[in-house]
Amino acid sequence: MPNPFLQDLDGRQNPILEGDLSLLGRNYVPDSFPHREGQIDHLVSLLKSVTRNINPSNILIYGRTGSGKTSCVIHVTSMLAEAMPGRVIIKHINCQVYDSIYSILVSLVNSLSDNESQNIPVSGWTIDRIYSELIGRLSAKQSFLLIVLDEIDKLIQKGGSDSVYVLLKIADDLKEKGSSIIGITNYIGFLDSLDSRVQSRLSQETVMFPPYNANELKDILEFRIKGILKPDAINEGTIALCAAIGAQEHGDARKALDLLKLAVEIAIRNGRSKVGEEEIIQAKETLEVNVLKETIRGLPLHSKFVLLSAILSEELTKRPSFTGEIYSNYCRIASEVGYSPLTPRRVGDIISDLDEYGLITTKIASMGRHGRTRYIEANEKREEMKNYILEEEIFSGFRGKNIGKQTRFEEDWLGGEKDRLQNVMETTMDPDSIQEREDKRE
Ligand SMILES: Nc1ncnc2c1ncn2[C@@H]1O[C@H](COP(=O)(O)OP(=O)(O)OP(=O)(O)O)[C@@H](O)[C@H]1O
Ligand SMILES: [Mg+2]
Repeated sequence: MPNPFLQDLDGRQNPILEGDLSLLGRNYVPDSFPHREGQIDHLVSLLKSVTRNINPSNILIYGRTGSGKTSCVIHVTSMLAEAMPGRVIIKHINCQVYDSIYSILVSLVNSLSDNESQNIPVSGWTIDRIYSELIGRLSAKQSFLLIVLDEIDKLIQKGGSDSVYVLLKIADDLKEKGSSIIGITNYIGFLDSLDSRVQSRLSQETVMFPPYNANELKDILEFRIKGILKPDAINEGTIALCAAIGAQEHGDARKALDLLKLAVEIAIRNGRSKVGEEEIIQAKETLEVNVLKETIRGLPLHSKFVLLSAILSEELTKRPSFTGEIYSNYCRIASEVGYSPLTPRRVGDIISDLDEYGLITTKIASMGRHGRTRYIEANEKREEMKNYILEEEIFSGFRGKNIGKQTRFEEDWLGGEKDRLQNVMETTMDPDSIQEREDKRE
């Protein structure tokens, strides 16, 4: 029989594909970026000083998830490396993985090894010793060092100003060549927790990546499918639908690309000759389940406690919850499974992160003479989220027996104002500005 696996791989036999579908995947970095020309030009102009032997400013890049930050930085820094072989070292660090200054310094030193025998151990050395080794190796190499700290907020959440300070200091201690930092984040609120000196040095230049709108996403998809999908395999309306769904998710290009790639896979699997709206809808449903599960599984432990608290508090009171209620129930959950609760401030940061992931929605309500307050609602997939969390081993003996309502709060605050609360629940605000307001109030 003809090999059925080869059929799908052979472009001539496949009515949909004319190129490699994996190029729509997450690991591929294209060589141009529609609607990011301004940001790329800006980054290039800032980094050009390296070619003139001048230390460039440190740069902070801010934008929501899927707005092209990581890929554009990889694109620009690869061009710089290509233009100056051996004279510039680019180290891209994902701070979700390397979230301590110790692990970052070890990784920097080891990336300067000529062979494995020069690698230093991943534990055992003091920070001072690793740092001196780094400066020694960089001075010997006579190269410029560019450190990209992707998801820098994760590093700062754990290590505070000190962690960045050490990396900023490299530039002062290198006599010949320089060093600078590109920080990437989708949560700019972390800057507030930094010393003002570190804050201003880190954000000498800021480059913003605004969310894409549906038209921009459509251009991006059309650009990305060139050479991969046959021109007749998909029509404009189907691409527009995919772009519109991505735009709803705060202009997320990753989401739009994932959706399109999966829709193509579904169409191929079903032996279709075109990718249509039906496949896009099917892909959307599949992705929603997978993404939600993956997102919940990947959350840090205390974020799971906070999310579970938001869901259980809401289940109990049948209304959105207030920060204080979520905090009390979070403490009860953490204690029941054997963990010490974090401070209210840290939990406030976690609430902002959960909002960023779309797992909860944070809104501001005006409570009339009681002033303003922040209230929180879990997203509509509460039941699924709760089940994914409770499926995990750590919750195996969890009963939630201590979860409670803040009855005093209800009586004192809500009393006769329940209707008013219903009305003001409509007021929505950007979570960043909520954070700002709360910070000001503190
Ligand atoms: N303008 C664009 N043109 C082509 N592809 C793009 C564009 N913008 C983003 N992409 C693609 O969308 C996906 C998401 O981009 P990227 O990973 O750079 O986002 P990000 O801003 O770093 O998101 P996060 O904050 O979640 O890390 C990548 O596959 C990237 O190649
Ligand atoms: Mg990124």
